Amino acid sequence: MKRVICMVLLAGVMFSACKEKVEDKEKAMNKEVSFKKIDPQDLDGKVIKTISEDWLLLTAGKENDFNMMTCSWGMLGNLWNEPVCMIFVRPQRYTYEFMEKNDYFTICVFDTIHRDILTFCGSKSGRDYDKVKETGLKPLYTEHGSVYYEQARLVIECQKIYADKFEATNFIDTTIMNKVYPEKDYHKMYVGKIINVMVKE
Ligand SMILES: Cc1cc2nc3c(=O)[nH]c(=O)nc-3n(C[C@H](O)[C@H](O)[C@H](O)COP(=O)(O)O)c2cc1C
Repeated sequence: MKRVICMVLLAGVMFSACKEKVEDKEKAMNKEVSFKKIDPQDLDGKVIKTISEDWLLLTAGKENDFNMMTCSWGMLGNLWNEPVCMIFVRPQRYTYEFMEKNDYFTICVFDTIHRDILTFCGSKSGRDYDKVKETGLKPLYTEHGSVYYEQARLVIECQKIYADKFEATNFIDTTIMNKVYPEKDYHKMYVGKIINVMVKE
């Protein structure tokens, strides 16, 4: 009788340990992605290296009507006593249309394991492809309706406060004009006031 009770108890312990393991695994698989808001003043890191080498994903628009593209030109800084982000978009980009008609945009930074997403979004146009479907990007939305992604490690949301197109007559180093703009498709610069910074927890 004692032996039977021991066996039943042991089976019970083993079952609950096994159940816990399955639950842990399920928890890990369904792990909620969460972002923590930080003050723009607390942004650190190698900003120039991050922008030029890790690249950014610029997104403009709202749920069901947005587009994104890769950028490796951009700036973060302080202008008119506001923390700002500057981004440069050529007029032929599909994203340009969304930058023009929306008040907010986001820039997202990703870990290198997501490089394929940035490569796709930097070589294909949203006019021809559903970039969310093709890349597996998982959109999330801020309280202003701006779009960011579960896969991002850093999200910076901006409100447009100034925009201007580069002009041929304003280049002091005119070699840039010939090198970068043989088609005269000058970038439009958007200055965005940083209104929200989120880092993956
Ligand atoms: C690494 C990288 C950086 C890029 N940086 C910019 C940029 O700063 N500004 C820009 O207008 N295009 C840039 N592009 C090009 C656009 O991302 C690309 O043309 C994209 O396909 C546009 O998509 P869309 O038509 O859906 O907007 C870059 C592309 C790559 C691969």
